[in-house]
Amino acid sequence: MATCPQGWTRRVIRPALAAGLAALLAGLLAACSPKPALFRANDITGVRYATDFSLTDHTGRPRSLADSRGKVVLLFFGFTHCPDVCPTTLAEAAGAMRLLGDQAERVQVLFITLDPERDTPALLARYVPAFDARFLGLHGSPETIAATAKAFRVVAQKVGEGDDYTIDHTAGSYLYDPQGRVRLFAPYGSSAEALAADLQALLSGA
Ligand code: NI
Repeated sequence: MATCPQGWTRRVIRPALAAGLAALLAGLLAACSPKPALFRANDITGVRYATDFSLTDHTGRPRSLADSRGKVVLLFFGFTHCPDVCPTTLAEAAGAMRLLGDQAERVQVLFITLDPERDTPALLARYVPAFDARFLGLHGSPETIAATAKAFRVVAQKVGEGDDYTIDHTAGSYLYDPQGRVRLFAPYGSSAEALAADLQALLSGA
């Protein structure tokens, strides 16, 4: 064919130009709108606290954050006699593990007791893995626990007398990336879905 029929121009070139213009406009608009949030929890990347600990797990093995290198870590402080906050948090974390399926093998959940007197290793060994067999309970001397809580900006206050005391404490979980850097603080009440989304993002290198 010697010449291009008119219709070819209208059918192909004009839509192509229009699509190009639309893409350009979309690009300009995207540049103006705020970046969508990467995480559901609070991004605390770069803070100088909550960086590491030196404790013993419920099997008697010494533990620091470096032992979980290559895994994403979810860590929080609590006590086994806690009536609501701690079991709820552990249950949501266990739910997140179920949602992650095979990826959960690269997640480590750590529960640091704020009640070293009553939370013996034996009690932690019964309580913590009941939520998920892979979870670890961590303990230390009262002095070590107090120093660790302080280093993580976790506040704990005994309420009541005798053996029946309870402990008011900071609720919420720290999340670490596979390089061992503290990245997120998930407030108390974060759902299994929200935790799973953030754990997955960190596993993916976010
Ligand atoms: Ni609690």
